[in-house]
Amino acid sequence: MINDIEKILVSEEEIDSIVRRIAALIDRDYSVPGSKLVLLCILKGSVVFMGDLMKRIKVPVEIDFMRVSSYGGSTVSGGRVNIVMDIFRKDLDKCDILIIEDIIDSGRTLSYLVDYLRLKGAKSVRTCTLLDKPSRRQVDFSADYVGKIIPDEFVVGYGLDYDERYRALPYVGVLKPEVYGKN
Ligand code: PRP
Repeated sequence: MINDIEKILVSEEEIDSIVRRIAALIDRDYSVPGSKLVLLCILKGSVVFMGDLMKRIKVPVEIDFMRVSSYGGSTVSGGRVNIVMDIFRKDLDKCDILIIEDIIDSGRTLSYLVDYLRLKGAKSVRTCTLLDKPSRRQVDFSADYVGKIIPDEFVVGYGLDYDERYRALPYVGVLKPEVYGKN
């Protein structure tokens, strides 16, 4: 464990078991003839979870990417969602989109994206998150697949960053307050 981390919240072993459990649920739910499952990774934080999850899913999958940003500070999610990189597919009306997120905080990002992709004409839209902080919700939103419910602590690692650092840690850890208090 590196020095900036106070404690490990989700270990590599627990992440592996979460990934296997969710992959099995996705296999069960998308084993339907005619289904065209597209895992939609929301950059950047979800890239590690996406990479592990797609390897465990047995039904055929395609992958795609979007990048969004919410206005506001780095420790508090802002009130608006901005699409920085959109999904471009001519076959969206045939795609069963499963949005892959690393974390749900206020709920604004996923709530917005689900509406956006439905309006854009996706055949179906569901959501999957590794981590969920329900105590931070600003809008009413629940994901279809949830890895782990966590308390309101500043977590980094396994894709999650503070000021673009710590994304490559193989576990999810709680950042020491003095690290983000310094800036
Ligand atoms: C994080 C996370 C979600 C969003 C969740 O992304 O990956 O996309 O915030 O917050 P919400 O539920 O309050 O909308 P972030 O903006 O930190 O970008 P990143 O993934 O590039 O680090």
